[in-house]
Amino acid sequence: MYILGIDTSCDDTSFSILEDDTNVKANVVFNQNELHRIFGGVVPEIASRKHIEYIEPLFLQFMRSHQFSPKSLDLIAVTAGPGLIGSILVGLSFAKGLSLSLGKPLAAVNHIEAHAMSIFLEKKIDFPFLALVVSGGHSLILLVRNYCHFEVIGSTRDDAAGEAFDKIAKFLNLGYPGGVAVERLSKGGKRDFVNFPRPMLEEDNFDFSFSGLKTSFLNFVKRNPPTNETINHIVASFQEAICDVLTEKTLRAAKALSVKRIVVGGGVASNERLREMFFEKSEKEGIEVFFPSPEYCTDNAAMVALLGFYRYKSGIVSPITVKGFSRMSINYKGC
Ligand code: KG4
Ligand code: ZN
Repeated sequence: MYILGIDTSCDDTSFSILEDDTNVKANVVFNQNELHRIFGGVVPEIASRKHIEYIEPLFLQFMRSHQFSPKSLDLIAVTAGPGLIGSILVGLSFAKGLSLSLGKPLAAVNHIEAHAMSIFLEKKIDFPFLALVVSGGHSLILLVRNYCHFEVIGSTRDDAAGEAFDKIAKFLNLGYPGGVAVERLSKGGKRDFVNFPRPMLEEDNFDFSFSGLKTSFLNFVKRNPPTNETINHIVASFQEAICDVLTEKTLRAAKALSVKRIVVGGGVASNERLREMFFEKSEKEGIEVFFPSPEYCTDNAAMVALLGFYRYKSGIVSPITVKGFSRMSINYKGC
């Protein structure tokens, strides 16, 4: 089967063609970073307007440059939520148009579940496993029992991990996306230069909270304005605190649920310090941790095509009336 994936959940317009669940024939992400950089974050109205302007020419260019004919497609998979609703509706409407005009089935998928499953593009993991999905909009721990059975074990009470990176980067004028800028600046920095709080670590649950950590960072830099000599140490200490909380809580959840495998996904999963810390800590616990390649951590349509394929194989197709959602519940009913 050839599955077309479309993702417009935020500011990226992404298309992918996947052959079954094994072979990514093409995966292209057109980002709008230049437009949003001046604002230090994504401006939803600009994002959706640009999706409207570009989705058709980008799709035609994508198909032409990879020498694919729309007629060769067997399934149209698209993100239906969660995310920026204006942006989602552009991709979803475009997918519906293709599905109707080509007479091919539609698979509307949950973007978070797609992040949780993205590792399967490169490696098949035995069920059950825990998925830590950490991106600009979400920080969740999911128990994944099968291709379409996801159970929320923990989530953020306020800011997502990526959002915290983005906000401090904006405050320091480091550039956008913030996580990438913070990681770059942290290289070689002293991770214990500032002892930032590790929120929620003492609490007996698997939830996160990053808003207090962000405030503590902002208070620190207001009291101690960073210099060329200290800035890399300060951001490295902040990155260390986030990675510490994410790894500790996820490993604690894995032990509590006796799950031996952890998969990490979402844009923050491309952070090298997070990867390193997970590998260091998990080895002692006898837990295996898996990370997709960076191109499948950040938003991409290949993971959407993949989840669409699994849903289709499980007998689920979406009606043409399927709605888009800015918030979307996780599918814990299974299939
Ligand atoms: O998954 P994603 O591309 O989009 C959402 O679904 O939100 O994630 C984007 C988020 C941004 O907050 C960005 O700052 C963060 O992922 N991010 C990183 C890194 N690369 C992207 N955070 C930390 N380290 C990175 N290397
Ligand atoms: Zn995402």
